[in-house]
Amino acid sequence: MSTAVDRELAERLDAAGQSHLVRALEALDGDSRATLGAQLRELDLDLIGRLIDRFVIESGEPPVEGAIEPGDAIPLAQGRAGHVEAQLAREAGDRLVAEGKVALVLLAGGQGTRLGFAGPKGEFPFAPVTGRTLFDHLTAKVAAIRARHGAHLPLYVLTSPVNDDETRRDFRERGYFGLDPATVRFVVQGTLPAVDLDSGRILLEAPDRLALSPDGHGGLLPALRRSGALDQMAGEGVETIFTFQVDNPLVRVAKPELLGHHVLAGADMSSVVVRKRWPGERMGVVARVGGRTAVVEYSDLPDALAEQRDADGELVFWGGSIAVHAIQRAFVERLTAGPAGDGTGLPFHRAVKRVPHVGPDGVLVQPDAPNAVKFETFLFDALPLAERTATVEAARAEEFSPVKNAAGDDSPESARRDPNRLYAGWLEAAGVHVAHAEDGEPVDLEIDPRLADDADTLAERIPQGLAIDGPTALGPDGEPITFR
Ligand code: UD1
Repeated sequence: MSTAVDRELAERLDAAGQSHLVRALEALDGDSRATLGAQLRELDLDLIGRLIDRFVIESGEPPVEGAIEPGDAIPLAQGRAGHVEAQLAREAGDRLVAEGKVALVLLAGGQGTRLGFAGPKGEFPFAPVTGRTLFDHLTAKVAAIRARHGAHLPLYVLTSPVNDDETRRDFRERGYFGLDPATVRFVVQGTLPAVDLDSGRILLEAPDRLALSPDGHGGLLPALRRSGALDQMAGEGVETIFTFQVDNPLVRVAKPELLGHHVLAGADMSSVVVRKRWPGERMGVVARVGGRTAVVEYSDLPDALAEQRDADGELVFWGGSIAVHAIQRAFVERLTAGPAGDGTGLPFHRAVKRVPHVGPDGVLVQPDAPNAVKFETFLFDALPLAERTATVEAARAEEFSPVKNAAGDDSPESARRDPNRLYAGWLEAAGVHVAHAEDGEPVDLEIDPRLADDADTLAERIPQGLAIDGPTALGPDGEPITFR
């Protein structure tokens, strides 16, 4: 039998109703015991206890509190060229970037389980012609904006302990995709343990390892503080943080209209929305809840509201969040001012999931039904805490086609079709012939964001005499790489 385990830790675990973990420690020795012991000492048992009481013992997600009313997004019609306010917003947004007051945050800490892709989602080779990855493509967008504005525009990549090593390795091995390594910074979000759905016991994924998962993208805020990123931003003159998700290849990074409306409104936090395609589409909507701006997740929006239509037959709650935000650094400072930066005030949510775990007999159980609760906070829950917000509509076909599911909507298939259609439209508007297949779909197309990230820039930079007869990728200088 091995030596006694750390008494103080054992007492804390007993008091928290997690005595099975003391027994798990007792069954180990040497390095394995040290590994598990270290993980256990890191746990915030008070917080976890409160979450278990709320979400496991009482069970269920609390209903949305307060009346849900439509949001007040600035519609796209006001964002088109020629509209004075839109022009002012674009200029203000561009100025903010050019003056070095913006930092980018790429949210890439999630697990990507729905897509069924092992490894960081950013390594998913989504591009139809070259097979380039999401990281490769999104960082090219960053490079393009830096070049256009001659701006510093630091990039922070939010990772989590499940994918941090691999993400950093990918960036290193791929030469930071051509970005200056000093301008690419990784911030690691926290984790929380998954607990058993019935008993609230913390699960082990191996005899010497807890079943930990990322604490949700709301974990960005304390992670920015803990890592020193907020101080670093302040030191570099950054005032506004632009956040975007790793799964959307069409995202307009540092979208000038968003940044512009955000600063002109003196907002703490602002969002981009697109029109939902149908009432039950799995997108959160930007709405007013109890008089404050909030994202209401699809699972929380009552059907009667989701289906409500106005006199023109349009959805009343039409503003689907694409999880693109502008956030004032000073607002994040305020939210994370508590001890250790963890007092953000963001509410927790529960997710019921299938989590493989070690059973009482030490054998690994692969559950075939959801057996565990995970706890997460969401970045958009900071919206109701903001004094002022702005919401800006974007054209879906131009800015949103995420890779979330293995098939069907928001899958690699749709994230191939949508950019093909968009780029074919840009090329044809520039007078370039593009071949279409019999079903009317254009051939596979890629346009390197460093060549152009909109129709007008492409029209200016497109090589003379180009005709596209087969799948084609246009490189950063416009050179076509054609595959037949
Ligand atoms: C999310 C939004 C939804 C929105 C939709 C648009 C949530 C809960 N819902 O849905 O309102 O309409 O996107 O695309 O966010 N991530 C982290 N750390 C985490 C968890 C996630 O960095 O702990 C990152 C992921 O890497 C990913 C992004 O956040 O880039 C989205 O997370 P995901 O869980 O896939 O959200 P969705 O359910 O797709």
